[in-house]
Amino acid sequence: MMRAMLGFPHVRLRRLRATPALRALVRETTLSPSQLILPLFFNEAIDAPRPIESMPGVSQLPVSMAAEVARQASKRGIGGVILFGLPKTKDAKGSSACDPNGPVCRAVASMKEATADLIVMTDVCVDEYTDHGHCGVLHQTRRGLEVDNDATVNILSQMAVLHARAGADIIAPSDMMDGRVGAIRTALDGEGFTQTIIMSYAVKYASSFYGPFREAADCAPQFGDRAGYQMDPANAREALREAALDENEGADILMVKPALSYLDVIAKVRASSALPLAAYSVSGEYAMLEAAARAGMIVRERAILEVLTSIKRAGADMILTYHAIEAAEWLNA
Ligand code: PBG
Repeated sequence: MMRAMLGFPHVRLRRLRATPALRALVRETTLSPSQLILPLFFNEAIDAPRPIESMPGVSQLPVSMAAEVARQASKRGIGGVILFGLPKTKDAKGSSACDPNGPVCRAVASMKEATADLIVMTDVCVDEYTDHGHCGVLHQTRRGLEVDNDATVNILSQMAVLHARAGADIIAPSDMMDGRVGAIRTALDGEGFTQTIIMSYAVKYASSFYGPFREAADCAPQFGDRAGYQMDPANAREALREAALDENEGADILMVKPALSYLDVIAKVRASSALPLAAYSVSGEYAMLEAAARAGMIVRERAILEVLTSIKRAGADMILTYHAIEAAEWLNA
């Protein structure tokens, strides 16, 4: 007789779905503002916000607005901000990336001065600072011009130390060079920044969903693509190798990027590592949601919260999203 008890009509899953209170009681995944991270673009060459056409609602900001944005983010209770810089000058070596008075260092310093509690992260990569738009310095190989891994790692280590000195709580290398997490950890520790956290863009795919970001950060590669250093979207086992290497090199937090087309990868990395896991819902994901909402094809707020919930359900502890402030307002309402 036990057998009959296992199915319908004894079992009715709709019982637990009958009211909002019941649904809340059995909800498995919840979103909290404290786990949302807002990406920000600081442009050294502007005095007022400059809207990014491919990302309606997002603007490049002047460094002079950093303190105000920090106070706003802190008031909303979001988990942090991550800073990208647009310098006035670019060259082949990305020299302006190592300028202690560059837009990221200045914005970090004024944000930390404005708010004690807000977690400030910086993206560490030279693509915004190179005139060719690649994530490292180039060298000639038999195959042609390629990004020179080890020379790039040196620059990234210097950048990381500058950001830490400016006050960054978390350094987030996004370049996909081999060995950069270990090198950055050594450089930070050598300068006394033993408490500076490394959030590694450990699993970063060569994705078409970065399209709008390249306008936002003015960093589209001038030739070729990033497939020689970013991961092939077809690979999931390789993600576990990337994650394990970065964990061994001393990463404190791992990241999978993009998020929405890689929910399986988020789930796999979650299962294979005990480290906190971030997922980056990238510019193309933002643009798709905004475009569909503008066309009246989806209900904006519901769709955005559904996407964020899916990313958490897949296993991310925290989400980098351009919707962080608005989502936090909805969640706090
Ligand atoms: C590289 C970097 C990129 C993004 C974050 N860091 C662009 C790229 O690799 O081409 C993409 C973020 C987004 O699309 O929202 N510095």
